[in-house]
Amino acid sequence: MKIAAIVGSPRGMRSRTRKLAGLVLAGAESAGAGVDLIDLADLQIVPCTACESCSLDGTCVFADDFAAAYDRMLDADGLVLASPVYVDNVSGQMKVFIDRLADAIHYQTLAGKYGCSLATTQVSGGDAVVGYLNHALNYLGVAAVGGMSVALDDGPEAIDRAEPAARDLGRRLVRALGDRPRYPDQEAEMAENRDYFAGIVRANRDWRPDEYERWVREGWIRDE
Ligand SMILES: Cc1cc2nc3c(=O)[nH]c(=O)nc-3n(C[C@H](O)[C@H](O)[C@H](O)COP(=O)(O)O)c2cc1C
Repeated sequence: MKIAAIVGSPRGMRSRTRKLAGLVLAGAESAGAGVDLIDLADLQIVPCTACESCSLDGTCVFADDFAAAYDRMLDADGLVLASPVYVDNVSGQMKVFIDRLADAIHYQTLAGKYGCSLATTQVSGGDAVVGYLNHALNYLGVAAVGGMSVALDDGPEAIDRAEPAARDLGRRLVRALGDRPRYPDQEAEMAENRDYFAGIVRANRDWRPDEYERWVREGWIRDE
């Protein structure tokens, strides 16, 4: 069982968001999971240009670091999305990464995993960013077990004080992978999204027959 955390701060080892994600992963590790920290600060990932090539065969025209990061997400059972708050939103690095997941969203390649989200902020916007990141997880077909944000203005020890809750969140994520809890509200939203994405999968059936057949097998599309 593996948990992968994607950290969207550009500050590398100095990042408080990375530190918070590390605490969540430490909690997951203590519950028996393997962990993988994907720091976007280490990667070169260019923005989506809406060329729509990926919709034809699932591959991007850009040969950058996205594919390797995505493979690490596919390899994980649980996902953590973590971003600093930038002008009341996720960082540009995190948003570029999420946009590059558009094909994963349309084809629901990560569906069935569980996840959680994290944000750090100076003062405000943390809870809204956690809400957005959990919404992005739902778009991917990933059920969110929770999330947390930390405001650095709460004092120099703010991240350290958050440690017990962060470790607990990591343990909760690992538990969810065994217990597979149900979240009716999220499931209704994910089912509605899938009904929409089914139109894309059906339209591209000739180009991506394996995906079409996977959707039929999953019961997300009726074979016609
Ligand atoms: C471009 C930019 C925009 C920011 N916008 C906000 C903001 O809207 N509200 C806020 O409270 N803090 C804001 N901050 C502060 C960061 O959210 C905060 O320092 C964050 O914890 C940094 O995380 P990191 O150490 O992981 O990079 C901003 C920082 C930067 C660099």
